Amino acid sequence: MNYRHAFHAGNFADLAKHAILTRLLRDLVVGPAPLTVIDTHAGAGIYDLQADASRRTGEAGAGIVRLLAAQDVPTAFADVVAAVARVNARGERRYYPGSPVIVAGLLRPRDRYIACELRPDDHAALKSVLPRELGALVHLGDGWAHAARIAPGAPAHLLVLIDPPFERGDDYAEALALLGKVMSVNPGAVVAIWVPIKDLATFDAFLGEVEDAASGAAVLAAEVRLRPLSDPMRLNGCAMVVVNPPTGLGAAAGPVVDWLAENLGEAGAVGRITDFAAGI
Ligand SMILES: C[S@@+](CC[C@H](N)C(=O)[O-])C[C@H]1O[C@@H](n2cnc3c(N)ncnc32)[C@H](O)[C@@H]1O
Repeated sequence: MNYRHAFHAGNFADLAKHAILTRLLRDLVVGPAPLTVIDTHAGAGIYDLQADASRRTGEAGAGIVRLLAAQDVPTAFADVVAAVARVNARGERRYYPGSPVIVAGLLRPRDRYIACELRPDDHAALKSVLPRELGALVHLGDGWAHAARIAPGAPAHLLVLIDPPFERGDDYAEALALLGKVMSVNPGAVVAIWVPIKDLATFDAFLGEVEDAASGAAVLAAEVRLRPLSDPMRLNGCAMVVVNPPTGLGAAAGPVVDWLAENLGEAGAVGRITDFAAGI
């Protein structure tokens, strides 16, 4: 496995994923019931944007650095901006928080966070950055198998974040299998899958399969396309596909994908929200 998230941390795709993740967390950490969050592909937790990996791609420069410099950024990015501020010294913009640190910042003491990471070095880094009082369980190993094994059944309040590298062709099939498993034990679970958009056929086929695996639950897709999908070898965009989206997610995610398309995209960039109602 060659994928290192350090090359991509803070890019447009992280901004879309993390802004929508913070919105999901805000909606789900209400009421007396504890929330369980399972992060199947957690990464290293914090990324140094001055490190060679980040400098080489320049993706953070075209992503979080531009967001932090912009005026009139939608309030839907406020929790991401706050999470960046928390991992940096005052006035600094060197570090970018990954999903575990973003989740950790929004959970209550009674909630549970379970992170999975396959790479021993990223797993060790992650363990060292998570606050001890969070009581997180940080699993070293395959997130697909671990999440399928431990996902709590209904009526547990559950959010599953599925964010694989999509380097391997079977990541799509693994995501669908895990979604099917989670829905079979906990039909009310909120499952958020980050997906790359390279060509329309692959993305559309995946959306159709998510609807099937969701067994009648509502599905929302929040897409950012940075350019028309004319070169399928490029990462032309991304989507967060959310099963059982909380009410109002589409309205909250719209400004996120629109801002990213308008400010970080090329000619022909678009943001798009698609709602597939429950039961069809
Ligand atoms: C896209 S990155 C995750 C980024 C993270 N979710 C975030 O938002 O900050 C994918 C991560 O999955 C890890 N990984 C790859 N295959 C895995 C597997 N089968 N189980 C768990 N982790 C895996 C990679 O090492 C990498 O750190």
